Amino acid sequence: MFVTVLLLLVTLCAQGGNGEERDEAQRPGHVSVVIVGGTGDLAKKYLWQGFFELYVNQVKGAHTFSFYGGGLTPTDKGTPVLFEILKAVSCSKDVSKERCAVLKDQFLRLSQYRQLKTLEDYQNLAKNIEQELQQEGMTEAGRLFYLSVPAFAYADIADNINSSCRPTSGAWLRVVLEKPFGHDFRSAQVLASQLGNSLKDEEMYRIDHYLGKQVVSKILPFREENKKFLDPIWNKHHIERVEILLKETLDVKGRIPFYDQYGVVRDVLQNHLTEVMTLLTMRLPLNLSSSEEILQNKLQIFSSLLPVGKNQAVVGQYQTYQTEVQQELNKTKDHVSLTPTFAAVLAYIDDAQYEDVPILLISGKMLDERVGYARILFKNDIFCLQNHNSVHCKPKQIVFHFGHGRLQYPAILVSKNLFKPVSKDSEWKEVTEHGDVDILGLPISDYYVQTPTKQREAYSELISHILAGRKNSFISTENLLASWGLWTPLLSSLASSFPRIYPGGADNGNLLDIHVKGREISYNSEVVIINNDQMGGTSANGFQVMQGKFRSAEMMSAWSEELVNRLAADIQEAAEAAVHKDGVFHLALSGGSSPLALYYRLALHHFSFPWRKTHVWMVDERCVPMTELESNFHSLHDHLLQHVRIPYYNIHPMPVQLNQRLCVEEDGGALMYEKDVSKLVNGSSFHFVLLGVGYDSHTASLFPGNKVDEHGESLVALTESPIKPHQRMTLTFSAINRAHKVALLVMGKGKHELITQLSRVKDNPDKWPVTGVKPTNGKLVWYIDYDALIG
Ligand code: BG6
Repeated sequence: MFVTVLLLLVTLCAQGGNGEERDEAQRPGHVSVVIVGGTGDLAKKYLWQGFFELYVNQVKGAHTFSFYGGGLTPTDKGTPVLFEILKAVSCSKDVSKERCAVLKDQFLRLSQYRQLKTLEDYQNLAKNIEQELQQEGMTEAGRLFYLSVPAFAYADIADNINSSCRPTSGAWLRVVLEKPFGHDFRSAQVLASQLGNSLKDEEMYRIDHYLGKQVVSKILPFREENKKFLDPIWNKHHIERVEILLKETLDVKGRIPFYDQYGVVRDVLQNHLTEVMTLLTMRLPLNLSSSEEILQNKLQIFSSLLPVGKNQAVVGQYQTYQTEVQQELNKTKDHVSLTPTFAAVLAYIDDAQYEDVPILLISGKMLDERVGYARILFKNDIFCLQNHNSVHCKPKQIVFHFGHGRLQYPAILVSKNLFKPVSKDSEWKEVTEHGDVDILGLPISDYYVQTPTKQREAYSELISHILAGRKNSFISTENLLASWGLWTPLLSSLASSFPRIYPGGADNGNLLDIHVKGREISYNSEVVIINNDQMGGTSANGFQVMQGKFRSAEMMSAWSEELVNRLAADIQEAAEAAVHKDGVFHLALSGGSSPLALYYRLALHHFSFPWRKTHVWMVDERCVPMTELESNFHSLHDHLLQHVRIPYYNIHPMPVQLNQRLCVEEDGGALMYEKDVSKLVNGSSFHFVLLGVGYDSHTASLFPGNKVDEHGESLVALTESPIKPHQRMTLTFSAINRAHKVALLVMGKGKHELITQLSRVKDNPDKWPVTGVKPTNGKLVWYIDYDALIG
């Protein structure tokens, strides 16, 4: 059979084909394609068609193929199912009917169904591949396994492939994986490491089909081709905002067992929309085909993205979703799902180029239309007095239109008041004749429009990239984990948020309109349709700040987010009072992870904070260079100082590094800091000292057994920590207890045990250092979140 097929291939070679993937064509040989889950939905809808197109395009190339559709059902049952699917593949318009019939016939003859259930099945598959290679005397180019199965099956299948289906040496192995790649950072990491036991990174091809959309894969080339126009305007001074949207009209009926565990953020935002965002904002690589450079530039954007707080997202759920869940998951009427089917998220990139540019990522099911696009809206600083229809008065924007919508085809649109884009790409053309359609506020005639000469399905595109080994169209492990790193904290903070219920379709009206204010977003309208029965046990009071007493001092308690907001507000109030009274505010801040959320809150929400009149001091410091991540000052700088307008001369890091060495007594760093405090701070009494407390009850860098009495009257001392880095510089109790106000911030379940102990013990600063915090004339307030308080 193979001989005939080969002969036919040779004949067909002479007849044409588009000659794609020339790079791979230079490496001739046989490719075995195995679609595991070959009779499933995705395979039926896209994969076989994609592989057929690959086959048609490669017919002229130097590859030969065999295709296997794998499934769990026995061969006699699976075979007819597969052939029904294969019969439905189609040729593009430019292939004649006759030629298409021949090609289809070939394709069918090269394909077979195989049961792939046990290790033995995989061993038999491998034997079959090897026998055919031998019989036909063919060199092997590679083996391509496409896993179109639920993610829980990945690890076992990868294991089977690794142990029995690796190709002969010199040939490649490529294993394609479909999302979801985990559920959050941790599970993605576990999955990646499980797969890593069987497959090398370069063998894994994680699909995000958005990267195969023609407009998405054109983003970087478009930016490159139009560099001379874009360079001056692709920045915060010119970009008003970026919007990346996928609106869909369908519901998720039939997919609920999957969807209810994921929701729109995991299903669309974490992958498709995030990928588009990175392509739009990453530094342009010098070499557009270097996957390594693209990855590094993407990772750089991920590292500059500010954490997305709860107030930077709104979620919704279409009205009939609950009933669908109850039906498909066999639940009673009391069952409530909080899974969002709509989400709008506001992201910010913390770098000089995009600082303060709002980036909106929005997606939802059951909306008014099906459309996907990314829009870069530029500021228009022209004031039009009379004729508002003049081109210069209109919105300036670039729209990467992925497809569907009013336009119905993929396109890149540049409004005419921006520039006329160039295209050096023969696979793209300019559209000059258009119907009467408005796209995002502008008639289409106000845009320059470019579209691909030939439209291609994302899957077909990506399948050809797999054969070509073009890794930059796929998601690497680092990229994946970076994206989960961004989304996981938001997903946790949204876990108990009640989504706004929307009716679906045109009836949504203005219900899902978003209001961007400062660095927060909310629904524009106040109306919240909440069915009270669905609120379950969550009491609205649970989100308020509660006041009480702890160790005879004042205590504020709330869920962490509320608590942080309250503490930030209290610090601002203290700052304003101090500036009003003394003209200056002296604030001493701690390191550690608990205050980071507070620092972000201060940086991102307290725009009227009197930073210009504030002096920031350190409560303690680790004896490491300031450039290191472990340095408290480094962390304070990253999370707070670099975001606020505070004069440099008001910032007082502790001098832990002097004479090119760290915390050496004779260098007198502690004394220098003490002198600075005495010189600048009236009576050496800080207005506000923020402290945390460690699991061993240390506070500042005052640890159990440090013999704090020995510090006497000194304000600053060198101490030893039981954990690395051991050497520390710290304010002493003398300094802390002179303060006007001291806040002790304790957060997280992990501190519950400690809080319980502290509520019982007497003051004993040697054993329980935090009990030594007793401001002489000032006030101590404990800020303890519910997790630490209640456990
Ligand atoms: C998939 C999601 O990845 O993308 C679906 O799982 C979503 O929920 C689909 O409908 C959207 O893809 P497209 O290509 O239709 O925009």
